[in-house]
Amino acid sequence: MKITPLHPVLAAEVTDIDLSIKLTPIQVSDIRTAMDTYGVLVFRDQAMDDAQQRQFSENFGPLEVSRKLHRKGYVPRLDKKMSDISNLDENGKPLPKDDFRLLNMYANRLWHTDSSFKPIPARYSILSAHVLPKNGGGNTEFADMRAAYDDLDDATKARIDNYICIHSIMNSRERLGYTDFDEGERTGLPPVRQVLVRTHPGSGRKSLYLASHAGSIEGLPVPEGRMVLMDLTEHATQPKYVYSHAWRPGDVVMWDNRCTMHRGRWHDPSDVRDMRRTTVSDEVPTVAQEAPRQAG
Ligand code: OGA
Ligand code: MN
Repeated sequence: MKITPLHPVLAAEVTDIDLSIKLTPIQVSDIRTAMDTYGVLVFRDQAMDDAQQRQFSENFGPLEVSRKLHRKGYVPRLDKKMSDISNLDENGKPLPKDDFRLLNMYANRLWHTDSSFKPIPARYSILSAHVLPKNGGGNTEFADMRAAYDDLDDATKARIDNYICIHSIMNSRERLGYTDFDEGERTGLPPVRQVLVRTHPGSGRKSLYLASHAGSIEGLPVPEGRMVLMDLTEHATQPKYVYSHAWRPGDVVMWDNRCTMHRGRWHDPSDVRDMRRTTVSDEVPTVAQEAPRQAG
C-alpha cells in the first residue's frame, strides 16, 4: 500500500489496497502504524458491502453496538454493529424534517469525538460513503488534537493536565435545543468521566480529548469549566489543524477518536446522503489509562 499525506499535520490517502477482501496481518499492522501517524486515513474507490465493512473493522478490535434509540415502532435500517449516518428510514426513504432520527443526527455537525459519552469510548471509526447529496455539501472535517495540544503554551498545559471532564450525550443534543429523550435514553447513558489530556498510545504524543458531549470539568463551576472547553475547542479547530474531506461514492474514511475531533457540514436534509459507520471500541476508560501519568 502507498501513503500520500493530504494536509500538513494530519490525514493521508492510502492506495493500492482493497478493503473488501481479507487483509494480511502485515496490511493490518501497516494501517495501524499509518493511523498512529496521520490520525485520519482516506481510502478511495472501495466497494465494500456492510458485512465486508464489519469484517475490515474487526481487524482493529471489537465493534461497538450502535446506540439504542428507544422509540415505539422504531426499526433500525442497518445491522446493530453499524451506525446509520444517513437521512433515510428503514425503507430507504428520506426522513421527514422533524423525525427524531434526523434531529439526533444534527449533533454530528458539532465538533466531537465518537462515543466519548460511553465509559469506554471509541478508538477508531470507519465511515463509508454509499450515496452523496446531489446538490453538494456534506463534507466531513477532522481536527488534529495532538498538533493543537503541542501548540498550547506551557502555563495552559500545566493548568489543564489533570482535568477530568463530564461527558453526556444529552449535552451535545441540548446545545442544539433537542431535549426529546425518552426515559430509556435518559437512564441508559448516565454521564461519564473522561480525562481532558490523554496520551495517544501508538505515538506517545499528548492529545486534547474534547467533544461537544463534554459539559463541565470536575472541581470547577460549570460556566468556568465550559469556557475552558469552548476556548480549547476554538483553539483546536483552527484551519491549520483541520482537514476537510470532500466525499466521493466508494470512499472509506477511518479516523482515530483518541487524537482527532470531527464534524459534518451542511447539506440539504431532503437530499439523500447514505453513510454507514462501524466503530471500534477502545479497551479501558480514559481515566484508568491516564492514572499512572496523572499520579506521577
Ligand atoms: C460520524 C459523524 C459526520 C458526517 O459518522 O461519526 O460524525 O459528516 N459523521 O456524517
Ligand atoms: Mn461522529
